Amino acid sequence: MTKSDDDGNVSQLHRAYQAKTVEALSESYDRWAGEYETHMKNVGYAHPAMVTSMLVRHLPAGARPILDAGAGTGIMGELLSAMGYAEIIGFDASNDMMAAARAKKIYADLKQMFLGRPLSYPDDHFAAVTASGVFTEGHAPLSGLDELVRVTRPGGLLVFSLGPVYLGEAFEKKSEALESTGIWHLVDASKPYNSTPLADALICQVFVYRKDDA
Ligand SMILES: C[S@@+](CC[C@H](N)C(=O)[O-])C[C@H]1O[C@@H](n2cnc3c(N)ncnc32)[C@H](O)[C@@H]1O
Repeated sequence: MTKSDDDGNVSQLHRAYQAKTVEALSESYDRWAGEYETHMKNVGYAHPAMVTSMLVRHLPAGARPILDAGAGTGIMGELLSAMGYAEIIGFDASNDMMAAARAKKIYADLKQMFLGRPLSYPDDHFAAVTASGVFTEGHAPLSGLDELVRVTRPGGLLVFSLGPVYLGEAFEKKSEALESTGIWHLVDASKPYNSTPLADALICQVFVYRKDDA
């Protein structure tokens, strides 16, 4: 990768981080969709492999259905399918990102929806929910976790990466609020890792929570 390619990849990422509204974010990803995977692979994008690894540690192959929140172009779908999960459902803010995911013919369903707003799935439905690279600066708000918990089955898992902007106090408050009200409990967490090791350092973590019985 040349220096100018590297600058281009990083500036696309930064443009997405600076989105002020989910509509602006969605447009930014629509414009990026055609080159997203090449750019992210060139920066050594680690979230999908990390989120999948943490899911596989706790959920037997075959558990279904799985919701992939912020599915993007479907990198997670490819990994989840390769690891033996079926009935993978996805949603994303960007229709053009999902067009690439749809073309992979892995997802049972893909719809445009926004974390931070109500989701159109029933309560207590999914065996697990994943979100790779979605809870980060300028992307999904932590309040989006409430709807992800609602649609997860009691005993089901939520496995998601958190970007630097949320690590520490912001997420601790959110997590404790859900834990102290008997909604979820922490099962596992990765060590911090760099999600773009071939570009700028973005130190992130993956968390695994289990939804408690009502
Ligand atoms: C860095 S990409 C990650 C895509 C995919 N999960 C992956 O790991 O390759 C972030 C994705 O999250 C989506 N996204 C960001 N904020 C969102 C929100 N509030 N609601 C729904 N999707 C969102 C974007 O449209 C984009 O496709």
